[in-house]
Amino acid sequence: MSRHYKYDIVIIGAGAAGLTLALELADQHRVAILTKADIREGSTLYAQGGVAAVLSDKDTIDSHIDDTIDAGVELGDPDAIRFTVEHSKESIDWLIDQGVPFTRYGESEEYHLTKEGGHSHRRIIHSADATGLAISKTLIKNASKHPNIDFYPDRVAIDVITTDKLGIDGPNRAVGVYALNLDDDVIEVFHGQFISLACGGSSKVYLYTSNPDTASGDGIAMAWRAGCRVANMEFNQFHPTCLYDSKAKTFLISEAVRGEGGKLLLPDGSSFMAKFDKRKELAPRDIVARAIDHEMKRLGIHHVLLDISHKDPEFIKEHFPTIYKRCLEYGHDMTKGPIPVVPAAHYTCGGVVVNRHSATDIDNLYAIGETAYTGLHGANRLASNSLLECIVFARSAAHHISEYKQKTNDVTIPDWDETKVTNSDEDVVITHNWQELRRFMWDYVGIVRTDKRLLRAKHRVDLLLSEIQEFYTNYKISNDLLELRNLAVVADLIIRSAMSRKESRGLHFTLDYPEKLASSSPTILTPKQTDEEKASSF
Ligand code: FAD
Ligand code: SIN
Repeated sequence: MSRHYKYDIVIIGAGAAGLTLALELADQHRVAILTKADIREGSTLYAQGGVAAVLSDKDTIDSHIDDTIDAGVELGDPDAIRFTVEHSKESIDWLIDQGVPFTRYGESEEYHLTKEGGHSHRRIIHSADATGLAISKTLIKNASKHPNIDFYPDRVAIDVITTDKLGIDGPNRAVGVYALNLDDDVIEVFHGQFISLACGGSSKVYLYTSNPDTASGDGIAMAWRAGCRVANMEFNQFHPTCLYDSKAKTFLISEAVRGEGGKLLLPDGSSFMAKFDKRKELAPRDIVARAIDHEMKRLGIHHVLLDISHKDPEFIKEHFPTIYKRCLEYGHDMTKGPIPVVPAAHYTCGGVVVNRHSATDIDNLYAIGETAYTGLHGANRLASNSLLECIVFARSAAHHISEYKQKTNDVTIPDWDETKVTNSDEDVVITHNWQELRRFMWDYVGIVRTDKRLLRAKHRVDLLLSEIQEFYTNYKISNDLLELRNLAVVADLIIRSAMSRKESRGLHFTLDYPEKLASSSPTILTPKQTDEEKASSF
């Protein structure tokens, strides 16, 4: 028997996006927040550099817009970009009002603004080098105190429940979510007037990533299965500098290190970025990551070096306390010499297509944060525009939801049906498929692509999708199976989008079409579901 919970709003995810939406709605609505692990776990917690916004007198809205368009290689939606940047200052004010302790400096105690790649001004407000931790801690503290917000940790949302899937006539609308309770393996039903997917991105589809384990693309896959369009999935961002150390898994070295003077070097100590872009280390991320990849392949080396040791050690420790300490734990003293770095999958620029209010193609279903495609990032995200997008679009969703007239959700949702499944005695299949998927995505759909590599990846993902579907239909579900199922859906969307783009632009670089086309548009995929597929998406 399923347990049933009823709320006005059910938010899946407690990162910057989900928490902002919850806090903005909680005075008027009852809100449930589901997280698939501990409440704090998610990319937001690990964000380092900061939040981009126009805060200095020397900066302008137009300059931030131009930098965003430029980094996105003219594929971003100009209206979405303007909307985001114009709301940047009030979003930062909102975070400050919530109590986020951004770094101040000097006697005037002004907020310190740092610089990152692709920005023509200092405009990144930050909390030393642990901005995400400061945002996450503050918003969770406030949400935990709010009487109208309930947290449900260790709940893995499985699928969005829509009127279409329930066979109810009329326009398709979202009415709830099935979620696996990891404590007792019961599948629960969360009924909601509104459902919001705030599940983060899908960089875990790649073998090496800066992201935590939560980033398995669940929100994008759930929306796709529910019938929403998905856009620009070929543009997965690789961050140029993650620490190269077998013990470190993948620890990010913030772009702010380069913003404050860090240099990229080859093993012989020579610098190389000038060969690739006149902005050198501060070129947009796609250019820097590709340059590093090129040099690593050319020289057959496993990493390059990042050196900021020419700066005063006290400056380094003050600006980058977290990075300094973590590197030291692994035996690298960044005040004394260069540290080894490699690119790793970092950010999903594409996602669920939403409008300016974060509404998806399905009534009452919203997508916010890294799960969404708002049009802001185009072919490559400008550094620190992600947290900004989380706040701007979550607040916009909240305003939209608050104005909604229809206030009841009286749909009857059935319990989860487990009568036809048994316990699996072959979990090794899940582990094996998991490793295979992430490996071939890294090898064939990574920083440099070709038609042949993409086709190889497509054959493999097709096989995996059918094997996983069979597994899903016959056996009891687990978190690993749910994540694998979602990763395979996302991998397929990435490969299909990449195959359809016959040019190189931003994060999508292919040796078969190395040039950028004169004009281009976003890649939008529309689910074509058979009745059978619809039925099996629960
Ligand atoms: P997340 O913060 O990733 O949260 C996702 C939430 O969804 C989690 O609570 C998770 O448990 C939940 N969830 C997922 N699937 C399910 C499911 N099936 N059921 C239930 N819950 C689920 N961006 C910047 O702008 N500036 C930076 O300085 C910056 N630094 C970064 C550093 C690192 C190391 C990383 C990884 C990213 C960084 N980014 C940065 C990107 C930015 O942090 C993320 O894009 C942003 O935090 C995403 O927020 P979110 O709310 O969309 O999702
Ligand atoms: C970083 O600090 O380099 C990450 C910033 C980002 O992902 O926007």
